[in-house]
Amino acid sequence: MTEGVKLLVANKDNILKYINSLLELDQIAFKENTWEKQNFLLEFSEKSKYSLLAIDPFNQLVGYLFAYTYNLDSVHISRIASDKGSGLSGIGTKLVNKLIVLCRERKLRKITLEFDKSLVVGHFYKQFGFRKLTENSIKNYLIAKKKLAKYNLYIGPNATRIIMVMVL
Ligand SMILES: CC(C)(COP(=O)(O)OP(=O)(O)OC[C@H]1O[C@@H](n2cnc3c(N)ncnc32)[C@H](O)[C@@H]1OP(=O)(O)O)[C@@H](O)C(=O)NCCC(=O)NCCS
Repeated sequence: MTEGVKLLVANKDNILKYINSLLELDQIAFKENTWEKQNFLLEFSEKSKYSLLAIDPFNQLVGYLFAYTYNLDSVHISRIASDKGSGLSGIGTKLVNKLIVLCRERKLRKITLEFDKSLVVGHFYKQFGFRKLTENSIKNYLIAKKKLAKYNLYIGPNATRIIMVMVL
């Protein structure tokens, strides 16, 4: 349970304070495709008032969610992880629920995210109302994110990436 876990909006100070824990958790959660210190620091630029750190009652980092706005009305979750070793369940849910609240307060319209097919994490997102993007919408999404050149990663026989969207 996560009652004692507080969520902080990430900023330069708290990212630097928890940077070693962020790198450690990222390594455990993502294994190969890990972020460097710089990735964490870049993600709280002007565009990002949506990134969150989950801190337990002992002041330990137990999860994080990094997200940024694009296309005026949308937020993209670029990274989320929770610490399985903490013995707490529900951290991921708490992070996504808080993001949804922040987005609604700020009148945003959509939350998007991507993951590799191999992660099989769709079940986690479906509980909030995220759904897979249809082929037609994928093109618009790739245009909005200036990633049209990567079309084949998302559509066709060699596709490896799944995109999900939640309309708020
Ligand atoms: C995805 C992640 C952040 C979820 O956080 P969490 O704290 O485990 O999530 P919760 O405890 O709130 O789980 C809520 C539900 O989602 C399910 N769930 C959690 N992680 C899941 C996963 N990787 N795949 C499928 N279902 C998952 C849980 O079983 C639970 O389902 P239930 O209510 O039916 O029991 C966490 O598993 C993680 O850090 N994974 C590694 C990194 C990763 O894959 N990130 C996502 C990349 S897009």
